[in-house]
Amino acid sequence: MLKPNFKEAKKRTNEDIKVLRSEYAIPEDMKDFGLGKKYYIKTYGCQMNEHDSEMISAILEDMKYTNAKDYEDADLIILNTCAIRENAHNKTFGMLGRIKHLKQVKPGLMVGLAGCMSQEESVVNEIIDKYKWMDFVFGTHNIHKLPEVLKEHVKTNDLEVNVWSNEGNVIEGIPAKRDSKYKAWVNIMYGCDKFCTYCIVPYTRGKQRSRMPEDIISEVKDLINKGYKEVTLLGQNVNAYGKDFKDKKYNMENLLSDVAKTGIERVRFVTSHPWDFTDGMIDVIAKYDNICKYIHLPVQSGSSRILKLMGRRYTKESYLELYKKIRNKLGDNSSITTDIIVGFPGETKDDFEETLSLVEKCKYDSAFTFIYSPREGTPASKMIDNVSKEEKEQRLYKLNAVVNKYSKEANDKLVGKIVKVLLENVSEKDPKLLAGYTDTMKLVNVKADKKYIGKIVDVKITDAKTWSLDGEINE
Ligand code: SAH
Ligand code: SF4
Ligand code: F3S
Repeated sequence: MLKPNFKEAKKRTNEDIKVLRSEYAIPEDMKDFGLGKKYYIKTYGCQMNEHDSEMISAILEDMKYTNAKDYEDADLIILNTCAIRENAHNKTFGMLGRIKHLKQVKPGLMVGLAGCMSQEESVVNEIIDKYKWMDFVFGTHNIHKLPEVLKEHVKTNDLEVNVWSNEGNVIEGIPAKRDSKYKAWVNIMYGCDKFCTYCIVPYTRGKQRSRMPEDIISEVKDLINKGYKEVTLLGQNVNAYGKDFKDKKYNMENLLSDVAKTGIERVRFVTSHPWDFTDGMIDVIAKYDNICKYIHLPVQSGSSRILKLMGRRYTKESYLELYKKIRNKLGDNSSITTDIIVGFPGETKDDFEETLSLVEKCKYDSAFTFIYSPREGTPASKMIDNVSKEEKEQRLYKLNAVVNKYSKEANDKLVGKIVKVLLENVSEKDPKLLAGYTDTMKLVNVKADKKYIGKIVDVKITDAKTWSLDGEINE
């Protein structure tokens, strides 16, 4: 049994980052393990987890598993979990409660825990104490070892826990079964070294490790050959890309231009930390038409005092300066979104008012807003949290009203305009419509024939709502 250890996970050493290219292989006796069996993966959390689930799917299919439409039809269920806030935890434990009943009537069912919660000591201890009926736990660093984890479990028929804590390598060659045929996630880096005081990610995802540029570029070229129109470059803090290279100078600016030069129709990237956003990056984004003019620029708070307590390394003023620079350079057709936390320990009414006034200044295209959730093991969890739950809820409510007002305003401005939309699938709202995103990441429901699925088309916007637009093909 290998349990997670936060003390190890917190360590950042100067050791070289190795790129390992032949770590993934299915053991001979596991090659037919999934024959005649079905798997179901439930994914929580961010895009990185979504992409990890695409890899877990491919690994299972390499063992001849097939995909189940519903968890009730599956012989193997994996929960790929998120640890970012308490409610993410609650969702997973709620799901485990439902699966437990299924396991009682279906004894051959195997159930595993993956993702960021697997990297948490307290979660794994709880699984060992109270969820002995589960079959296996593996973490974010050893996805490629899933076949071995299953093999070990079958050998002992006991709960198999195999979680690595302090991982400093980049693993290449893990296959992915992508959810979309048109847009793809491409990891450019793993981990995070920022250690914002509220955040669990540097513990669950380990030290920052950038993938080699040539590996990223060849993945993008391969996607182009397969007909993909859009790639999203993924990292917790993509602007810091390349800072961990010891033998070369190659940064996000270089990577963005090289990816743009592959000719892929759309390039996106998430998430940008305001700290490492350089002028050079803004220039490159402005220069290439195929780099989407869409920036997710999490601010977290509008109070410099709270930003300092959060360990964000910028002030309200320096954030606003960067914000203006980006808007000026990318023009009116760009979109900027953000993340905001309310109720951080010690946040006063005045601090909160500063957040509101910052939102009034930035007029974000949209924002993800959260109530602060203490995460065990992080510095903020030891700070005195004296804001009541009711007050936090009121602040979130007030903030959302302002955020929504500006989302609607930004959408209203597009009515009558012609925008490019990558039509991805039939709309969830109405099966007669297709849905897709503009390059500025706005959801559009479009009156269009199904033959347009997978194409980037000109759409005339006919109506604007707070969270979506309506439109029709402009022929
Ligand atoms: N790497 C990204 C953030 C990833 S987490 C960045 O630095 O911008 C996504 C968002 O979750 C964060 O931007 C933050 O707003 C929110 N978040 C993270 N930890 C949180 C916590 N403990 N409580 C509430 N929200 C949190
Ligand atoms: Fe978390 Fe901060 Fe890293 Fe983002 S940059 S993942 S908020 S520690
Ligand atoms: Fe959640 Fe882990 Fe992503 S904590 S937000 S799944 S990196």
